[in-house]
Amino acid sequence: MRAWLPEREVHGPERATEPDIEGLNRVFADAFTDRYRRDGLVGVRVPHLNPLVWRYALLDAGEGAMVWRDESDHVAAFNIAHRSGTEGWMGPLAVRPDRQGAGAGKTVVQTAADWLIAQGVTTLGLETMPRTVDNIGFYSRLGFVPGYLTVTMTRDLSGRGHGSPTLLSTRRAAAGDESLAAAQRLVDSLASGYDFTREIQLTAELGLGDTVLVEGREGAELDAFVLWHAVPLAEGRPRDELRVLKLAARDSGAFEAALTATEAAAARALPDRLRGRLPPTHHPRVSRAVDRSADDGRGLPGAPARRSGGGCGGAVFELGNLTA
Ligand SMILES: CC(C)(COP(=O)(O)OP(=O)(O)OC[C@H]1O[C@@H](n2cnc3c(N)ncnc32)[C@H](O)[C@@H]1OP(=O)(O)O)[C@@H](O)C(=O)NCCC(=O)NCCS
Repeated sequence: MRAWLPEREVHGPERATEPDIEGLNRVFADAFTDRYRRDGLVGVRVPHLNPLVWRYALLDAGEGAMVWRDESDHVAAFNIAHRSGTEGWMGPLAVRPDRQGAGAGKTVVQTAADWLIAQGVTTLGLETMPRTVDNIGFYSRLGFVPGYLTVTMTRDLSGRGHGSPTLLSTRRAAAGDESLAAAQRLVDSLASGYDFTREIQLTAELGLGDTVLVEGREGAELDAFVLWHAVPLAEGRPRDELRVLKLAARDSGAFEAALTATEAAAARALPDRLRGRLPPTHHPRVSRAVDRSADDGRGLPGAPARRSGGGCGGAVFELGNLTA
């Protein structure tokens, strides 16, 4: 006689669409809360993501937004695979805790990796938490190798003394198209094959943020641009930070100019009542992710010469050079 075992199978992938957002959010919050608990962070309850942020992720990913379901057609696992030109990126991804440990995680990573490779990406990465040794082992067994440590920097802003940033949203139709093309030419000149056009357009269409433009010193071309979002990442939270998603700058002078203009944009995009009147931790902040090798914190404002492990930040994993 066989003992009764709960159903462990999941079926998919199907393309995840907007009606799935609630189910995706539930699996996201449950899987990451469980992950934190197993990492010893027992009191952490991971909130649902803002549905607008999911909408952006699903539209950006297109066919790469993949969902697996259980026998009742509830979301059991998902992986959102994005492509920015020749760069492929996975995440968020998760398996519902009651379906973990039965091969679903391996399937969702491999299926999305195969799809991205079929789309012609030449690099493929994902980001995981450096403290989560299980995940590092899990990805390593699937052929990923550790890449960079991503340090997320935040800075409180003062509400005064900012200039007027040049924003893509203030450009009229034809000038806007020309700025978008100039942004892509800048990216091409710096990192051939990358393309952030879709992310920039989708951000504008959904009203999640904007793109700061730094005009070229010679006139015609752009020296830098910064794509940012100001909608809260977590559902039901107030708008109190600006997140930089993509930044391209011709040189270090352009990089500084881009950050100054982004701070000015943050001062405008975030509500007055959150500026200067609340305790410092509630001030508007600029978050930025800076990719460096794991032991290189040099030159980052306020960073130690070498960064020790733990704390915030993520470890980037790459599937190696796919063109080799
Ligand atoms: C990471 C995650 C997706 C893995 O999903 P999963 O369904 O448990 O993974 P699988 O069952 O496919 O495991 C694949 C392999 O990893 C191994 N593995 C999985 N979890 C493991 C663990 N905790 N310790 C050791 N090995 C583990 C399995 O034994 C299996 O090895 P095998 O192929 O030799 O049999 C899942 O744990 C999860 O959703 N975690 C919370 C959210 C999260 O961390 N997402 C990723 C953020 S980057």
